[in-house]
Amino acid sequence: MVALRSVVVGCGSSLPARVVTNDDLARRVETSDAWIVQRTGIRQRHLADETETTSVLGIRACRAALEDARLGPEDIDLVICATSTPDHTFPSTATQIQAGLGIHQGAAFDLQAVCAGFVYGVATADKFLTTGSARRALVVGAETFSRILDWEDRTTCVLFGDGAGAIVLEARESAGTRDDRGVLNASLRSDGRHRDKLYVDGGPGSTGTTGHLRMTGKEVFRFAVGSVTDVIADAFRLSGTSAEELDWFVPHQANRRIIEASADKLGIAREKVVLTVDRHGNTSAASIPLALDVARKDGRIRDGDLVMIEAIGGGFTWGAALIRW
Ligand code: ACO
Repeated sequence: MVALRSVVVGCGSSLPARVVTNDDLARRVETSDAWIVQRTGIRQRHLADETETTSVLGIRACRAALEDARLGPEDIDLVICATSTPDHTFPSTATQIQAGLGIHQGAAFDLQAVCAGFVYGVATADKFLTTGSARRALVVGAETFSRILDWEDRTTCVLFGDGAGAIVLEARESAGTRDDRGVLNASLRSDGRHRDKLYVDGGPGSTGTTGHLRMTGKEVFRFAVGSVTDVIADAFRLSGTSAEELDWFVPHQANRRIIEASADKLGIAREKVVLTVDRHGNTSAASIPLALDVARKDGRIRDGDLVMIEAIGGGFTWGAALIRW
């Protein structure tokens, strides 16, 4: 059977130059390198300077992804930007990225699913591409969480970083088997009853301010390990694959303990887990494409590999997608 598949043909990323270590943060709030590393695995994060907005980081990541794919702006007819830290309330950051790249055709829009945004973006682009509504999509996760952190709150400010990552997806004819390249399936979930466990206490429609990130860390941790693995089990079941066949597990990079506990629960060997949280911190929707780009560029992810991406974010929203690279 001939079917359309969304095949990854390029990836790229962008990190601000400024690196902030745990010791740097310990000079600002009462914390320590030992506490942060033991609880989260984070050793450093990159933080944007005032010129580096979300769209600036997103444009750089998309340029790198286009170069990797050997494509130009004329080849793209869909731009989806997953972000919770848009440059402006409107227009969307996706349209700013589109303009910055010189893309004048197709559609561009933002997608808001917090840390699960990139998985939601891949799932959404996949629908456009496999139904013939678009031919090539840039899916970018771009964030400047440093702008919405309460820098007096040590329970949250040590966890996050800034950055952007992008992939190019191309619709290609495929025999449609699990061995053919492309997105094999994606499974998305949300449950708004959990909204007050991880949220921003402001917004244009409520306070008229941007607000700051607030989180009940223990409850997020419990949910992330306890409930989120359902989408991963779904992805294996729908594709007829298993944890043993997986080459790489590239989860949202929030916390090393959450990642390792989830992998253990699913029977995914630790050596198959791509970890970047130590270097990047939690960059929300950007964390998965940043990690994909690291593992692609250092030679771990190769064409034909079976790659699982997975994330949970505020809402809660969560999801997983299985990709034959
Ligand atoms: N430095 C030093 N001490 C701290 C810090 C800090 N940065 N932050 C909190 N503490 C203190 C607390 O005040 C508390 O002190 P007390 O016992 O005197 O009251 C003590 O450390 C323990 O605090 P807990 O909140 O119980 O620590 P816990 O072991 O739960 O770890 C953490 C906190 C790391 C946030 C953990 O709950 C966690 O990882 N949760 C998951 C949340 C997460 O990763 N969110 C990312 C965003 S969500 C997402 O991306 C989907």
